[in-house]
Amino acid sequence: MKFLFCLLLSYLIGTISGSYIIGSKVLNIDIRNYGSKNAGTTNAMRVLGKKWGVITFIIDFLKGILVVVISKYIFLFSNQYILFMILACIVGHDYPFYMKFKGGKGVATTLGAFAVFNFKLAFICWLIWMFLILTTKMVSLASIGFLLSIIVLFTLLGDYDVYCDITIFVICGLGIYRHKSNIKRILSKTENKIGNRRKK
Ligand code: G3P
Repeated sequence: MKFLFCLLLSYLIGTISGSYIIGSKVLNIDIRNYGSKNAGTTNAMRVLGKKWGVITFIIDFLKGILVVVISKYIFLFSNQYILFMILACIVGHDYPFYMKFKGGKGVATTLGAFAVFNFKLAFICWLIWMFLILTTKMVSLASIGFLLSIIVLFTLLGDYDVYCDITIFVICGLGIYRHKSNIKRILSKTENKIGNRRKK
C-alpha cells in the first residue's frame, strides 16, 4: 500500500512539466504547438528562449532528484523499488494526464534521478551527453547516447541485480522510444541543431 502510494506520488511529481507550465501559465504559449512540439528543455530553449529553457531544465531535473530522495532517504526503499519510482516519474513526465498524455522525453528528469541513484556512474553518462552535444550539436542524438550509456554503464559497472538492470533498460528504452521522431530526422539529416532557433 505504501509503495503504491509512492508510485502514484512519483507519477504526479513527474507530471509537473517545466516547459508546459512556463509556456502556458507565464508566456501564454503551448510549447507542444511549436518547434519540435516536445514539452522539454531543448524545445523550451528553442521556442521560449535560453532563460526559460534553463528554468525548464531545473524544474524537470529537480523532480527526478526529488523522487529518488523520497524513495531512497525517506522510505529507505531497495534499489528495485527506487527504480520503479523513477520509471513512474518519467511516465508522468512523458504522459501527463492533464496534458492529454502528451508530454516530454524525460531526459532531464532521468539525469536528475540517476544522479541521486548513483552519482559516479550518472556523472560519467552526463559527461558523455555533454561530449555528444558539443561534437554533434544535436541534443537529441546526445540524449539517445546518454540513455544508451546509462544502460551500458549501469549494467556493466553498477553491481545491480538482473531485475534492476531490466528496469533501467525499460526506463532508458522508453526515453529512446520517445525520440522516434528525432531518429527519423537524424536519419534524413534534417534534425535540429543547436543554434537553429525557430518558432515553427
Ligand atoms: O531532451 C529532448 C531532446 O533530446 C530532444 O528535444 O525538442 O529536439 O525533440 P527536441
